[in-house]
Amino acid sequence: MAGLFEDIGDTLFENKTVLEEEYEPDNILERDDEIEEYRHSLKDVLYGRNPSNVMLYGKAGVGKTAVTTHVLDELQHAAEQQDAADDLYVHRYNCNDETVFSAVRELVNRLLPDHASEFPKRGLSTGNALKELYKQLERVGGTHLVVLDEIDHLEKADSLLYELPRARANDHLEDAKIGIIGISNNYTFRNRLSAKVKDTLQEDEISFPTYDANELRTILHDRAKKALVEDGYDDSAVAKAAALAAQDTGSARQAIDLLRKGTEIAEREDAGTVQDDHIGRAREEVNRGRLRDKIADQSLHARHVLEAVAHIEHDGDTPVRSKKVMATYQQIAEKRGDDPLTTLQSIRNHLEDLQMLGFLIRNEVNQGQSGGRSYTHELDMDPSVVFKRATNSTNKAKSDRSDSAAIIR
Ligand SMILES: Nc1ncnc2c1ncn2[C@@H]1O[C@H](COP(=O)(O)OP(=O)(O)O)[C@@H](O)[C@H]1O
Ligand SMILES: [Mg+2]
Repeated sequence: MAGLFEDIGDTLFENKTVLEEEYEPDNILERDDEIEEYRHSLKDVLYGRNPSNVMLYGKAGVGKTAVTTHVLDELQHAAEQQDAADDLYVHRYNCNDETVFSAVRELVNRLLPDHASEFPKRGLSTGNALKELYKQLERVGGTHLVVLDEIDHLEKADSLLYELPRARANDHLEDAKIGIIGISNNYTFRNRLSAKVKDTLQEDEISFPTYDANELRTILHDRAKKALVEDGYDDSAVAKAAALAAQDTGSARQAIDLLRKGTEIAEREDAGTVQDDHIGRAREEVNRGRLRDKIADQSLHARHVLEAVAHIEHDGDTPVRSKKVMATYQQIAEKRGDDPLTTLQSIRNHLEDLQMLGFLIRNEVNQGQSGGRSYTHELDMDPSVVFKRATNSTNKAKSDRSDSAAIIR
């Protein structure tokens, strides 16, 4: 009897983890200038001085996290060799949808001695948590670099960025030194900080531009060599993945995703080598995935409204008026066990948002004599993308929060 896996051909991956999200590259390529700036900002640590605060800006996938990991590993290593340097502690924290309280609490918990019980989740204030943080920092001593990754997702980041840099000036810290490294996908983050905070931070700013096709090609060739079997890919396929990603986002993450997906497609088809065509088709898959992420980022009710339009489109009944969308939406919300929004205006607001975000097309309908504006709606994508939308827990938490706002509105 032929086994289920008998016709599985040779794999094209030598080491697939090299193309996965968690992989930490040994070589950072094409980022010499940014690394040099970083090095300059942090070198005071090696002389036992107060570290500068650093803020990194740049779009998603341009190497901010990877470069930070690399530079801090090197710094840690150098600090161990250097007599003048204090003991160095690096605390990495991803701020994704967190509050200042939970960020400080997490830092406290990581600093607490093994036998100590965790800082309570409830009942104490952010001020209490900060006090405990200073206490623990003093107990441990040395220099602490606190990396706040994706800080633009931290609610009320201002207060933390005001407090921590002033800890020594305010006599909360005497022995311990602290520096903040903030990483933001959003260039406008700094503008939103108050003047008071900017004054306190006095940070060095490092900006990460998007990658061009040549840079992505260098990064991708290096990955391909480690991840794929020899002769498993055409150089032109790697170049194509780099070119497509450069055109689209300038993100190394996207380029790497394209190569991984393209290789999976080639493998599925027993192609023997990864070729341009596989990368082209991978792009369609990656784009669908990105669209699904974007959908998952919407609030709960916005997603139900979108799903309603998708169902109607699927049945061939678009363009459709808001009223009919509302009826379908209410069925969907009820089926999911979510209390539906009850005013037509709230549905119209969601439809308008969804149109602005590029999910829907809206057409104005001539009302004739009666005047007044009226619209019909249709989906600006394949309905199947909406039906298969991604739902991950982080996004869900975010949606739930914005939903309560939508309901109140
Ligand atoms: N200069 C680079 N050299 C090698 N790999 C890189 C480089 N820049 C980014 N990468 C890789 O691309 C992906 C995205 O980079 P990441 O640092 O997570 O981006 P960001 O934090 O800016 O969103 C990661 O897999 C990372 O290893
Ligand atoms: Mg990152």
